[in-house]
Amino acid sequence: MNFASDNWAGAAPAVMSALARHSSGFAPGYGADPLTAGVSRSFNDIFEREVAVYFVATGTAANALALASFAKPGGAVFCHRDSHINIDECNCPEFMTSGNKLVGIPGADCKITPAALTEAMSRFPDGVVMHGQVASVSISQATESGTVYTVAEIEALAEAARSRSVPLHMDGARFTNALVSLGCTPAEMTWKAGVDALSFGATKNGCWCAEAVVFFDPERARDFEYFRKRGGHLFSKSRFVAAQFEGYFENESWLDTARHANAMALRLAEGIRSLGGRTAWAVEANELFPIVKRSQFETLTAAGAKIYEWPASDLSDNVAPADDEVCFRMVTSFATTDEDVKTFLETLTQAS
Ligand SMILES: Cc1ncc(COP(=O)(O)O)c(C=O)c1O
Repeated sequence: MNFASDNWAGAAPAVMSALARHSSGFAPGYGADPLTAGVSRSFNDIFEREVAVYFVATGTAANALALASFAKPGGAVFCHRDSHINIDECNCPEFMTSGNKLVGIPGADCKITPAALTEAMSRFPDGVVMHGQVASVSISQATESGTVYTVAEIEALAEAARSRSVPLHMDGARFTNALVSLGCTPAEMTWKAGVDALSFGATKNGCWCAEAVVFFDPERARDFEYFRKRGGHLFSKSRFVAAQFEGYFENESWLDTARHANAMALRLAEGIRSLGGRTAWAVEANELFPIVKRSQFETLTAAGAKIYEWPASDLSDNVAPADDEVCFRMVTSFATTDEDVKTFLETLTQAS
């Protein structure tokens, strides 16, 4: 019953067999190998246009380096107050952007709205040197609360960013979970909706260490090679990141693993609700935040469920946990089994 995080899961079989397949022989280093070139081209097919793709090791690096390429002197990056870039990356975005400031915007469901974004950016008027300047906007898809921006919501945020002539970045640590949840194409969820750069996460969905920064206008990526090398993220054996992506994309494995993870999350949510619990936010990807009695939470953890208490901020009074209740996070993955879900719900039933 391990629901601690999708990064506690191992690597998917398709990814591991691709790594094994490419493990022997010699190939040029630093991304100059044919496998990296071939896998990079497959991103063009996935996104239905020519894109510039750069592999990195972590989601934090993908986010910080993408934002670095959009940085300005005195720049401000607008994001949700509870976003990973704002609270979980040890100031890496600020560091890599040479001190661009992150402006955290509150918003229900861990989403920012166009109105709140426009208002926050209006506090940085063009030409007022004291305040600095608007540099970029960043959203997480799926969000840190397990919700998913609709395509229309992304389009509206892109329009707000455009109104200040700045690019829109998407933190896609759980990109595929959001994608299969919406049932749209990768192009529709990104550049067609106005996204300029994407942190394409694959680690959480079955790779062991594979993230990519994707620029939808390759012109915008001109200096990225330098940011990546300077940031220590140009792999010498880059072909092994490429190999992971090759396995990930093979036979649509990446879509299947995300569909499985999302289905497990939904099944858990439905089971918890049927036992009188509730979730803090809608369950739209592979994370859920149940609210149950503290005694039930304690029974679950005593039975070995790996779950963590979570601060349930911004909830309406009728959803927020009461004094004897607790909100906790559960994350599902390709490795979550029917048995895990069944055991969890049976334990909760006994604790009810
Ligand atoms: C929304 C989000 N963005 C980015 C990341 C990237 O994190 P890491 O640098 O640990 O790969 C995570 C990981 O938890 C995340 O949840």
